[in-house]
Amino acid sequence: MSVEHRPLAWNIGEEILGLDLSKPLDAATVAELRDLLNNRCILLFRDQFISPEEHIAFTRQFGETMHTPALERMLHPDYPQIWQVTNVRQKDGTESFSRNTGRLWHSDQTYMPEPAKGSLLHCKEIPSVGGDTMFANAYLGYEALSDVMKEMIAGLWAVHDLNEVEERRSRVPPLTPEEIAKTPPVTHPLVITHPETGRKILYVSQQVTCQIVGMSKEESKPLLDFLHSRIVLAEHTYRHQWRPGDLVFWDNWCAQHFAPMDYNQADRNERRVMWRTTLAGGPVDGDKTAPAAA
Ligand code: OGA
Ligand code: MN
Repeated sequence: MSVEHRPLAWNIGEEILGLDLSKPLDAATVAELRDLLNNRCILLFRDQFISPEEHIAFTRQFGETMHTPALERMLHPDYPQIWQVTNVRQKDGTESFSRNTGRLWHSDQTYMPEPAKGSLLHCKEIPSVGGDTMFANAYLGYEALSDVMKEMIAGLWAVHDLNEVEERRSRVPPLTPEEIAKTPPVTHPLVITHPETGRKILYVSQQVTCQIVGMSKEESKPLLDFLHSRIVLAEHTYRHQWRPGDLVFWDNWCAQHFAPMDYNQADRNERRVMWRTTLAGGPVDGDKTAPAAA
């Protein structure tokens, strides 16, 4: 049986119809979904009122779940495979650590030596207006470059540093010294090759890519900003308006995402509750190996 689907936007995203994610899928369906994900960058499944166990089981049909040693404050107390992304205050009345997750464009865990392959975000509660997530196609970011620019950046590597997030924003509590120690800066190629499609991807995040290896930060910034701007051209994006029961599965190699601050966070009744599982990836691969100085 082949999966029924339709595009969410011309250049990114596919809605999958007629599947119940609470039940195991057959191998042919998993392979077809994987293929759609690799090519269309994000998949939407509506009306999936699944339990945490079912969410984790669905994720595991595509590979191993990923553990992140830092940011354990985001984990669900009973399900360490689930990150809670929410503005709901903690039991002791303090602000949620994750309430401003994703306020800069990024893909998940690129600050790790082996970034995540995928993330599966499930909507539990959504504010009356807003709380959207935007997605962009990073294959097309690369393809939008001129041949000369492609040649110039071939073989370059860049630094990804989670601590840069705190440097650029003051909204979330700073990382603890222990969290900083667990997430030292890492380097990845500026252009990676998707391991399953073989297509090239511009691997530059607005959130954590802070320097090109061998250049100063001042030299790097305008180039990184320009390259990133090609990924998020309006025609490369899709903006998702959530409904409870939506599950969006994105590929962290070829898709980037961003959570605009587009709802009333001051009103405690405007709750946004999202649960995320993360699919392990592996080392990302580019044209050249890491420079010795990195
Ligand atoms: C994430 C993330 C954005 C959002 O879960 O990785 O960036 O809209 N979330 O909740
Ligand atoms: Mn994210």
